[in-house]
Amino acid sequence: ESFVAANEHMPSYGPDSPERKQLYEALNKYKDTTTDIPIVIGDEEFRTKDVRYQVMPFDHQKKTAKFYYATPDIIQKAIDNSLKARKQWELTPLEKRAEIFMTAAEMISKQKRMDVMATTMLGQAKNIWQAEIDAAAELVDFLRFNCQFSRDITRYQPLSPSESVNNSAIYRGCEGFWAAITPFNFTAIGGHLCSAPALMGNVSLWKPSDTAMLSNYTVFKIFREAGLPPGVINFVPADGPVFGDVITKSPHLAGVNFTGSVRTFKTIWKLVAQNLDNYVSYPRLIGECGGKNFHFVHKSADVKSVAVGTVRSAFEYGGQKCSACSRMYIPQSMWPEVKQKMLDILKEIQLGSPLDNKIFLSAVIDDKAFNRIKSYIEYAKNSPNLSIVAGGKCDDSQGYFVQPTVIETSDPQDKIMQEEIFGPVLSVFPYPDDEYFKYAQMASKTSPFALTGAIFVKDSVAREELVDTFRESAGNFYINDKSTGSVVGQQPFGGDRLSGTNDKAGGPHYLMKFLSVKCVKETK
Ligand code: SER
Repeated sequence: ESFVAANEHMPSYGPDSPERKQLYEALNKYKDTTTDIPIVIGDEEFRTKDVRYQVMPFDHQKKTAKFYYATPDIIQKAIDNSLKARKQWELTPLEKRAEIFMTAAEMISKQKRMDVMATTMLGQAKNIWQAEIDAAAELVDFLRFNCQFSRDITRYQPLSPSESVNNSAIYRGCEGFWAAITPFNFTAIGGHLCSAPALMGNVSLWKPSDTAMLSNYTVFKIFREAGLPPGVINFVPADGPVFGDVITKSPHLAGVNFTGSVRTFKTIWKLVAQNLDNYVSYPRLIGECGGKNFHFVHKSADVKSVAVGTVRSAFEYGGQKCSACSRMYIPQSMWPEVKQKMLDILKEIQLGSPLDNKIFLSAVIDDKAFNRIKSYIEYAKNSPNLSIVAGGKCDDSQGYFVQPTVIETSDPQDKIMQEEIFGPVLSVFPYPDDEYFKYAQMASKTSPFALTGAIFVKDSVAREELVDTFRESAGNFYINDKSTGSVVGQQPFGGDRLSGTNDKAGGPHYLMKFLSVKCVKETK
């Protein structure tokens, strides 16, 4: 096969462009309605008495989706149904499975693009650009690249040196079902975590985030329209603990593909351990659990790229990317100038509805996030080691708005430099210029996470030292670039420590997790 994936081209959305017009038509279609979203198992829809709503984070009186939590019985039904669907699906050749997901990619790239865009903007409060790099471009990239990678990694066949022996590798999916438990912050991650196992011949139960329900259901429907047979992916909104309990009690759990909090991932791991004696096969656990990502600046760095890169990394999508920078280390001599540049940019930033295309930043996702972030800001206001140099205001009267906030700290080990806040809050420690090595070493160990990190440095000796110092502190490491914005096929994504199992989504090796290879030796 000669198919080589390329990254999706993003439209300009210029004021008079056709795509701007199409996008606003799609937004109008969804903005004043509450979409009813069923549980979908095979070809059947279910609605329970446990009714839930997804609201628009920037206008929380508006309900964008109505959905239903699955009961334990319904979750069990979804498991049984998917195991039935598996029988046919695992016999479906990879080429055919890939064709379905390539069709889905084409649909998202073309006729469905504005549906995934609009539902992501309204439900998850993303502006046009943040929605485009996620729900359109990244999702299309995941689907296309995985189709290519699936061929690449299944090409290998073992040696058969003697004519009387034939050795072969058979690339099977896993016995059982996968559970995809997915986050709000990227529509693409939802679509990716359920589809990657399916592409490799598995079946999966998709439990989307309550706060990404509308966009995720839109993606699910596209998969079905693209030709995905019923039951290969079942769409199962549910209460997290209830869902976790039922899937981990099933002897047929093949694996959990998870993106979310450390706490939840550890809970899943413990539940699996508790049920270990009941499984047909050892469940595989893939987790991506956030970070406390750093920008470390050396005095030889370019001031402008530090200021611009840090504002973008810390505040785009309200710091709610797993990769967002939330702690910066900068030479004391450089800080006043960088600070001024950052304040100049922040002054221009308006908070508001993501439908207004002047808006850089909208609301954070929900009340829980709002309260958590606010409590860190309150903590900073009351702590003698910390001072707020920008932002600091929170207002949830209409939407969950938090101003982009910069906190300066005199203590590089303060909890604000260690704990994940997952909001538009950046903490900065200005260090004595000539002690950069000491503070680099400290920064490399300060946080229990190791997802992304960046160094800004022009000096070649310092560059070597910093690369070496931060060798184990980030799964995605940037030199003279911000810590966000990994691209499928270019920077496969994931980290170690509390950040997860570093299986590198967006790269070929990730797909190995969903294969159970069988080797056959046949003697003639
Ligand atoms: N892959 C995204 C990024 O790098 C984050 O989660 O920004």
